[in-house]
Amino acid sequence: MKKQIFKRDSVLLAFTFISAFASAVFYANRISYVFVNTAVFSGFAELLLTLSVISSIGLLVLYILKAYNIKVREKPCSDRGVFLFFTVLFEIAAVLFTVADIAFTIGAGAETSPVILKMILKTLPVFVSFCAAAFLLFIFPKIKKDVFKKIIAAVISLGILTGAFYILFPFFNYKIVSDPMVIDAGDAYSVVFATNAKGTGYVEYTYEGEDYKLYDEAAGRIKGSSKIHTVKVPKEHLTNNSYKIGSARVIEELSYGGRSGKTVESEEYNFKVYTGSTQTFLTISDWHTRLQKAYDAVSYTGAYDGVILLGDGVPGLMFDDEIIDYIIRFGGAVTGGEKPVIYVRGNHETRGGMAAELPGILGLDSMYYTLSSGDYEFIVLDSGEDKKDDHPEYGSMVNYEEYRKSMISWLENTAEEYEDLYANKKCIALVHSSDICIEEDLKERGFSALNKLNASQIISGHTHTCEFFEENGINIYLDGGHNNGVFTASKLTLNEKGYILEAWNDSGEKVFEKDLSWK
Ligand SMILES: [Fe+2]
Repeated sequence: MKKQIFKRDSVLLAFTFISAFASAVFYANRISYVFVNTAVFSGFAELLLTLSVISSIGLLVLYILKAYNIKVREKPCSDRGVFLFFTVLFEIAAVLFTVADIAFTIGAGAETSPVILKMILKTLPVFVSFCAAAFLLFIFPKIKKDVFKKIIAAVISLGILTGAFYILFPFFNYKIVSDPMVIDAGDAYSVVFATNAKGTGYVEYTYEGEDYKLYDEAAGRIKGSSKIHTVKVPKEHLTNNSYKIGSARVIEELSYGGRSGKTVESEEYNFKVYTGSTQTFLTISDWHTRLQKAYDAVSYTGAYDGVILLGDGVPGLMFDDEIIDYIIRFGGAVTGGEKPVIYVRGNHETRGGMAAELPGILGLDSMYYTLSSGDYEFIVLDSGEDKKDDHPEYGSMVNYEEYRKSMISWLENTAEEYEDLYANKKCIALVHSSDICIEEDLKERGFSALNKLNASQIISGHTHTCEFFEENGINIYLDGGHNNGVFTASKLTLNEKGYILEAWNDSGEKVFEKDLSWK
């Protein structure tokens, strides 16, 4: 008889932990709440989370009542019907939430599931603390054999000590985890690379017989609190020159002193800039974390002199690891650190807490600007988000309508000032969404300014399709990206008479080719 009661206790206990885990995962899945609430009603996901937490606590209370034989009324656990009702209700809730969690995580797809897993890892300490507290308060005292108690106490103590030691002295091999992505920031090159822990960042090279070591710094203070390092280098210093990147691990920075760790340095990179009459650029958009697919497509495009990244490499920017894994490492991989990158922001890079850090991380003073490559002019624009600012997906944290207004004013001023100069230029505009702005009036003003600047072509992404059409007197090319498991990468070849647009998918099929003349 005693044995049977113990079994029932164990089942309740198991469901308590399952339910706590389901609650933790549901909480970690907050990026799905907007979609759940849109489908049902505002606050529905939060209501479900509350019910899940109540059911976890309820199961723990039921376990305590059962295991400790606590009197609820006159007799211990006398009201069996009520007890059974709540047990079954909470256990069913635990199972339903677990199933919902699995469905959410798998259903989020290859792009968002890793983000959810990262959020689960962040939530894990809360779940572990709940389980540990429940264990120590209600289960540990009931263990009869002293030897088990001693073993468990030893294991828990060892775990706590190891965790504390790791916080003070994190032990792993410090290293550089990406080739540098060298971004053409218009007035300078911005060398961006990442390490697997926070540290300093520097670029070393020799220019006209003089040795240079430039740091990622702000007004003389070397930055040491990030895994991402950004060093601005004058264009003439890096052009057709070799350079190294390096980083010293920073364990802690104090007002007085601090602790540094290992210094790591790269091999030499030979940075080549082609400014002749024929120039080739790989153009890629909408890789949405599908790095391998993108690399496969790029393997068929043949050689290129530079890379144009047209945005949407991530689902959003909540973690610096998303910038490292899907933007910096990607840019570094497709250039080997030896070709310039022109970076155009996608709407998915405007979302999440790290989105506001992105321009600084990439060393860009503005996400819209002009740059020259020999005889060719590029106008980089930023279409911002693709929905109105009050859309629930943005959590009231965006001001893109005003931002787009400022960008269009800047473009109009540029057109006003440089109309005559650009009349003889070969000009291409780059923008993630070919609409430029979601506001019709701003779109019209944008196209009008681009026409004044003699832009022959807009190259964009956003639709995940490979298309060519003409709108408002300007050619528009949508360069591919990831679509239903197939990736398309494009190549732009510039020459004196015109330019060629080509595209290949990740199976090596050429899916687009067009020869065009400058305006
Ligand atoms: Fe997009």
